[in-house]
Amino acid sequence: MDNQEIIVRQAVPDDKKYSTTITDEMESSANARGTGIAKRSPEYIEKKIDEGKAVIALTPKGDWVGFCYIETWSHEEYVANSGLIVSPEYRKSGVAKRIKQTIFKLSRKKYPTAKIFGLTTGLAVMKINSDLGYEPVTYSELTQDEEFWAGCKSCVNYEILMSKDRKNCMCTAMLYDPKDHYEPEETKAFFEENKTGFERLLRFKQWKFLDAFRRKDKKGGGSLKSFFALFFN
Ligand SMILES: CC(C)(COP(=O)(O)OP(=O)(O)OC[C@H]1O[C@@H](n2cnc3c(N)ncnc32)[C@H](O)[C@@H]1OP(=O)(O)O)[C@@H](O)C(=O)NCCC(=O)NCCS
Repeated sequence: MDNQEIIVRQAVPDDKKYSTTITDEMESSANARGTGIAKRSPEYIEKKIDEGKAVIALTPKGDWVGFCYIETWSHEEYVANSGLIVSPEYRKSGVAKRIKQTIFKLSRKKYPTAKIFGLTTGLAVMKINSDLGYEPVTYSELTQDEEFWAGCKSCVNYEILMSKDRKNCMCTAMLYDPKDHYEPEETKAFFEENKTGFERLLRFKQWKFLDAFRRKDKKGGGSLKSFFALFFN
């Protein structure tokens, strides 16, 4: 199906019927990629829809295609566009890009002064974010709201995050600051120039943070925390 035929819009209460499909796909995609994810329940998705903080993509016939939602942190000083998911059969045709553009616009309208950020393990999302004007940042530039980081507890990589004192993990952080940002053309060009480096960074994290731990774990080594203490502190 042509990407332009797919409808991308703010979700409305009637879309709550897709909530289980959405959370099931979030979980199976994370399992397929072998990466972590902050797990969300169908009720959480429904709440986001009711609050007018979600964007959905559907076919004209009403089949579910994609989803993303808004979260606010530190008394609305920060906004995260989270839970981006596209149904596998509709991927690589620009749907995620349209969803992110729509949720970005909605976020800017609802919270014009908020810093918008995202955490991702994927190059596709890094690319989409760069096109919108986000730039890569360290975790220290994100919200320090305990509730946000508590959301990572359901991620398989939570132990890694904590072993790094919340300063690093599998995800790369990206941020758009309305008061101090580069133009999207500049962040887009920066991504293109450094794409290979970003790809290597993502692979490097997989290798350092995950494979090394798995190997150590298989040999019956110490805890993840002590492992990182030996090599990375
Ligand atoms: C990541 C995901 C949302 C991308 O959805 P999509 O609809 O296929 O993405 P798009 O077609 O809009 O692609 C956006 C850009 O990323 C690129 N891209 C897409 N998949 C990619 C991949 N696996 N690796 C590298 N680049 C990729 C596209 O070429 C496109 O670039 P372009 O603008 O130069 O053409 C989708 O694969 C998905 O749902 N994955 C599982 C969940 C997930 O990883 N969510 C992100 C959590 S942060």
